[in-house]
Amino acid sequence: MSVDRQAVIWTRLGTSPLRMGQLYLTERECRFTYDLDYLATGLPGIGAIYTPAVYANDTIVRTRTDSFDFLPPIQALIPPHSEHNFQRRLVIEYLARNGVTPASGLEADWEILKVSGHGGIGHLDVFETDEKALDWYAAPVRPELFDVTQGTDFSLKNYLTWFDQDAEVLMQVIGPTPSVGGAIPKLLVSIPESGWDGRIGLPARFGAQGLVDVVLKFEQPTVYPGLVELEALALDVHREAGFNVPRHWVVEFNGVPALAVERFDRDGNRNPLFTESLYSVLASGDTRITHNHSYSYDEVGRAIDRSPIEFVTNRDAAKRHLLARLLMALLTGNGDLHLENLTIVGMAGELGFSPVYDPTPMRAYSIHNMLSVMPFGHYGETDEATGAVVNLAAGVRNLAKHLGVSPATLEEMTGKALQVTEHYSERLGALVSLPEANRKNLVTIVERVRGQLS
Ligand SMILES: Nc1ncnc2c1ncn2[C@@H]1O[C@H](COP(=O)(O)OP(=O)(O)OP(=O)(O)O)[C@@H](O)[C@H]1O
Ligand SMILES: [Mg+2]
Repeated sequence: MSVDRQAVIWTRLGTSPLRMGQLYLTERECRFTYDLDYLATGLPGIGAIYTPAVYANDTIVRTRTDSFDFLPPIQALIPPHSEHNFQRRLVIEYLARNGVTPASGLEADWEILKVSGHGGIGHLDVFETDEKALDWYAAPVRPELFDVTQGTDFSLKNYLTWFDQDAEVLMQVIGPTPSVGGAIPKLLVSIPESGWDGRIGLPARFGAQGLVDVVLKFEQPTVYPGLVELEALALDVHREAGFNVPRHWVVEFNGVPALAVERFDRDGNRNPLFTESLYSVLASGDTRITHNHSYSYDEVGRAIDRSPIEFVTNRDAAKRHLLARLLMALLTGNGDLHLENLTIVGMAGELGFSPVYDPTPMRAYSIHNMLSVMPFGHYGETDEATGAVVNLAAGVRNLAKHLGVSPATLEEMTGKALQVTEHYSERLGALVSLPEANRKNLVTIVERVRGQLS
């Protein structure tokens, strides 16, 4: 026995909220149909591949799989399935308080989508009905900012060590929080436009004045001690390397270290920009993709070159960006630059890579000291002809060649990345919260990489 489920997708990409179309989930498929009125606006669609240009007169149909019950851009709005996932727990708790206790995994996902499928990262807002959409858009957002540094009874600390008792308090302050995927506990909040001063509010809406939206990422001191400072340093180094990097603040939230990062999926008026992870883009185009590391960087390059539907406007710039990000990831000890840590945004009518986010040098933590989620240039594989294992430098060269980057350009890019990270190891030494063992480990890793790339 099963019943088709229906929801509607809205967006604030235009000057006012608009319905994009209708979503159906059947026993076998997920389907989406654009509204004619929406098509007439000429605005972007639910995804770069699922674009109105291609699907104007065609329902988008996708057979459900273990990895994607929903179309990838919609799946991205649902937190990962781990029962330890902070965002999932937050919404499940909220649902339970409202008497909703889903029977199955899919039932839970559907309920979560209805509650937190709107107002989150990106430009898509999913609602159960149009009525709920209109109510939500019409509801005034509490404009207050709450002070979270002055000994409030807001005990997030307990929450972070996975004691649930304080979820209630968190709910009262934050409300049903829009979700963001990923492993690290995060909240979407707004802070004063001038920067962090200890006060937070709900995410801004409708051109809210004087506020800026941030992703607030909390440290889990027992699992990843020192992570916040490390991520902040990595963001700084990427900015120095010439990447577009959002403003960010290392903060403390009731004793818990946290990083507030300005959101890049909003414009200056707090309106959403078209936003889609590379994972969602690629999985929309290739149903063989099941994980955020299913494609090697080489395959990403090939998709950029050959995709019949353009998902980056400047293909050469995008390929160079990918290579530059890889070089910086290697030299900073980030082994986590998978397809969900790369995003496509639409700005001024062009699609391109978003500013840098989540460049955290996760290799500082031994369980993450690997490069397996970022395959490139056959690195680590055995060369059939010679029987030799492809080393790091050869892997980078193979990738560059595949991306159409000349040896001279690669040399220049590598030189620049080496130069900007020249004092990185010393700077790691200045971090106060990263345990000595992790620091030493990371220094050893990045020094070895420097040797291999020099
Ligand atoms: N500054 C930002 N602006 C807009 N969206 C962001 C920003 N930072 C993160 N996001 C979104 O939130 C998601 C999760 O954030 P992030 O990647 O920083 O942490 P994480 O995924 O928990 O870390 P990990 O990749 O180690 O699991 C990202 O994939 C991205 O979609
Ligand atoms: Mg991430």
